[in-house]
Amino acid sequence: MKEEIIRLLKKEGKLSDEAIDEIQQMEINDFADFVKEIGMQETSYISALEISKDLNTQYIGKNLYVFKEVSSTNTVARFLSMNDIEDGSVIISEKQTAARGRSGKGWESPIGGVWLSIILNPHVDHSKLPLITLATGVAVAKTLEKIGVEKPEIKWPNDIMINGKKVCGILTEAVAKFNTIESVIIGVGIDANLDIEQFPEELKEGTTTLEKELGRKGSENLLIKMFLEEFEEISELFDNEGYESILKEWRKRSYSIGKIVEVREPFNKHYDAYVLGISKEGALVVEKIDGTLAKVISGECIIKN
Ligand code: BTN
Repeated sequence: MKEEIIRLLKKEGKLSDEAIDEIQQMEINDFADFVKEIGMQETSYISALEISKDLNTQYIGKNLYVFKEVSSTNTVARFLSMNDIEDGSVIISEKQTAARGRSGKGWESPIGGVWLSIILNPHVDHSKLPLITLATGVAVAKTLEKIGVEKPEIKWPNDIMINGKKVCGILTEAVAKFNTIESVIIGVGIDANLDIEQFPEELKEGTTTLEKELGRKGSENLLIKMFLEEFEEISELFDNEGYESILKEWRKRSYSIGKIVEVREPFNKHYDAYVLGISKEGALVVEKIDGTLAKVISGECIIKN
């Protein structure tokens, strides 16, 4: 973390050699405060002021930390979550240099997208983690509906799709002590104002952007504000154990149910199956070729039809 922050500040010409020495010597808590301070300075492209203006939430996004460039907002969020940070804080970066996707993959994050991580302190056990991820997917889909996307769909567990192409990915990570989750880091990446032609060749076919689908650029600040509001609404359902309502909203927008998929679970053989639905724990319920039922808790499902 320290090296990363120093590199960033050096890039902006903000650090003298003495200041670098000082940062190197800092206690971890002081360093966390220092990182927060940087995140509170106004940036040019994404604006905390704009996002906060009329933000209608109780706690989500009440503390926004916006950076010009970080390796990964999830990494910064994880670091801050271990060093005393307010519940519902949001870390945003205009671009990321080493963003992480699911299954150990990377994530393209140039300027123009929405790259953020929410820190939650839900104090729930591990079994609820998949539901938090599904709830986030619903919040993104609802936000996209509000800005005019006709039919955003959710591919299990949490890819948001438009016309069969991925526009948003979610990476949920837990900071845990024993079996209790201390904090959850919910990383959301939305390909907003991006030109698909700039994407690496291997991603072009399966990816889309809001700019492409809507035929216009939109305000990232407004998109973030709207998403944070949707997120808080759905997280309230979560707090009140309204899991069934979350699942209902998810099912309504499912891209996966009714499809034939190749299931790729970690440490298990790949197999083909028909998707029947999702269970109350957020697992994908599938019927295998031999007619037996299975629940997929983690892994990938590649759509075959
Ligand atoms: C996926 O593979 O679908 C998940 C992608 C998650 C990307 C977001 S961008 C903000 C946050 N920071 C990261 O490093 N990853 C997540």
